[in-house]
Amino acid sequence: MRTVEKTLIRFVNDQAGPDCLNLGLGEPSFPTPAPILAHVREHLTDWRLGYTTNEGYRELRELIAARESAEAGVRVVPERVIVTMGSEEALCVFLQAAVEPGDEVLIPDPGFPVYESITGLTPGTAVRYPLRPENRFRLKAADILDRLTGRTRAVILNSPNNPTGAIYEDDELAALAAGLKGTGVYAVTDDCYRALVYGPQPPSILGRYENAVLVGSLSKSHSMTGWRIGWIVVPPGIASTVGARHHLTVICAASVSQRAAIFALSGGSDAVCAANLDELRRRRDWALAGLRKFAGLEAERPEGAFYIFTRVSEECRRAGGSLSLCLRLIEEEKVIVTPGAAFGPAGEGWLRISFANLPETIEEGLKRLGRFLDRLRK
Ligand SMILES: Cc1ncc(COP(=O)(O)O)c(C=O)c1O
Repeated sequence: MRTVEKTLIRFVNDQAGPDCLNLGLGEPSFPTPAPILAHVREHLTDWRLGYTTNEGYRELRELIAARESAEAGVRVVPERVIVTMGSEEALCVFLQAAVEPGDEVLIPDPGFPVYESITGLTPGTAVRYPLRPENRFRLKAADILDRLTGRTRAVILNSPNNPTGAIYEDDELAALAAGLKGTGVYAVTDDCYRALVYGPQPPSILGRYENAVLVGSLSKSHSMTGWRIGWIVVPPGIASTVGARHHLTVICAASVSQRAAIFALSGGSDAVCAANLDELRRRRDWALAGLRKFAGLEAERPEGAFYIFTRVSEECRRAGGSLSLCLRLIEEEKVIVTPGAAFGPAGEGWLRISFANLPETIEEGLKRLGRFLDRLRK
């Protein structure tokens, strides 16, 4: 059997007890918005919650298509949309459908570790492209275009980015689209944090490139991680192949979650989501200030998502690497943060600190992190 391992993010979390303060969280501390819960409670007994069509309820696909059309500035038809069990299933079925033996998939470094793991489930190979601290971790199209070979099948983009919070710029996406034109390479944009931005809406490659694939989700934007609702928008012509993979993997996304998603995407919880975003913005600014005050660390101000990526090269060297540092932090101070090494070789010497948790948890966690780093620096 081919072995597949959990990501280092999960590994670190598995080492921590329930008494640990969690600054590693990949989900907002907010509950699912009350209007969504009320809507489901009210209708639960009326709905016939059987299988839906494999691609999802038509009404939901229409809502997603309308939303993506508005954001990308091009018309996306519902036939290009498949409702999935979160964005992770979307990435998984897409890459499994698209990648053939010998193919290469370009993934960001640092980047969400699942991209490499999922590529490992295909007959292809992951090839990293850099997101550089000197560019504030923003994409430079040349870093991708320079790595294209005749075997490149797909390139994965992620904006707002996990773990850096960076957003990719319009001109670089335009340059990427121009450079990819005619290659047939799929540009797969993982937009699961797109609704969590603290400034203007980030640009999209969807309307710019004929082979763009978009992956979205309600997990982060609507605090619905456990409902497992996401979607994929594929180029015309391959929906049935990707849909078949999805069908053979899960049949369809859970029908009750699809019902909740119809309500959410019709705007039923927009006011709550906007208030949550304001709260995340406060936590971000507060966490950056706390990081400086309690731990003497600087970081780029994240433009989206809920992660701060901070450099601790010397401390990691002393601890024997970012993973050892994080394991010692759990043992000595009962605080979880994510080692930069989880995000690829470029992440070594860095830590990802999530500000998705409650403010009092963030404050106490940063104090303990500061205390721990002080000991390490002596
Ligand atoms: C960049 C990125 N993509 C995808 C996912 C998966 O999200 P979901 O499957 O819940 O939509 C995550 C979760 O942490 C993520 O950070």
